[in-house]
Amino acid sequence: MDRIAIVTGASSGLGCEIAFKLAKKKFHVVIIGRSIKGLKNTFDKIDNINEKCTIVQLDLCQDNCAELIEKQVGKIKGNVEVIVNNAGIGIFKNVEMLSINEWQKMISLNLTAAFLLTKLYVPKMKKNKRGILLYINSVAGKKGYPFSSGYVASKFALRGFAESVREELRTEGIKVVSIFPGAIDTPLWDSVDSQFDRKEMMTITEVAETILSTIDFKNISVIEELVIRRIKGDF
Ligand SMILES: NC(=O)c1ccc[n+]([C@@H]2O[C@H](COP(=O)([O-])OP(=O)(O)OC[C@H]3O[C@@H](n4cnc5c(N)ncnc54)[C@H](OP(=O)(O)O)[C@@H]3O)[C@@H](O)[C@H]2O)c1
Repeated sequence: MDRIAIVTGASSGLGCEIAFKLAKKKFHVVIIGRSIKGLKNTFDKIDNINEKCTIVQLDLCQDNCAELIEKQVGKIKGNVEVIVNNAGIGIFKNVEMLSINEWQKMISLNLTAAFLLTKLYVPKMKKNKRGILLYINSVAGKKGYPFSSGYVASKFALRGFAESVREELRTEGIKVVSIFPGAIDTPLWDSVDSQFDRKEMMTITEVAETILSTIDFKNISVIEELVIRRIKGDF
């Protein structure tokens, strides 16, 4: 029986690195995203170290994404022990310039997709009395920033969602972890018109390493929230 870890948004950036590191820890990693090129790249990285990986190519904003995921994951002999809700987008502009479509995209991916995946696997985790739910949030889930109203709203909501789920699952042996990183040098910044120096940002390697330190099945304790910032602070 495989120990399964699901990582959303694993076709690039932080998700790709988290998936790789979970594979190194001997999880059968299910990687989710839209770009088949990106997913294959992550798959090859994992395949090179002779570990197991399953690609699920889909748009997490589709209403039926949970059923499509379960259809693929259900074929693997094993239990889903870890879910990393990582997929996310940021559209940064003045509130008056943000379209309803852009707003809904951020809410749908950053919040609703995490809800759907949580809802899908909580019953199985409850049955197994074992599981870790990770939510990749942001420092924007703790504090408002200008030109980020939709992104901040989605991340504040994700934080509240995770807090509530944690309270619900305390007696079930399921750990709920929210991660709040500052700026990381990932493709998320490719389309952002900002003056931030990418070389000054945290690397995916250091952030993924810190995130993986929260995945612990042995102890009765849990790191409930983790803020990861540069020593120098935010930009
Ligand atoms: N980079 C930062 O500075 C920073 C800081 C704090 C928090 N975060 C958070 O970290 C997480 C990962 O972001 P990243 O920085 O690694 O950026 P990224 O490289 O752009 O990764 C985003 C991932 O989400 C996936 N995705 C986007 N839309 C999707 C959709 N509709 N359906 C399925 N997957 C979708 C992308 O894959 P496809 O395009 O293949 O679908 C990609 O794999 C996000 O939640 C972000 O909010 C990032």
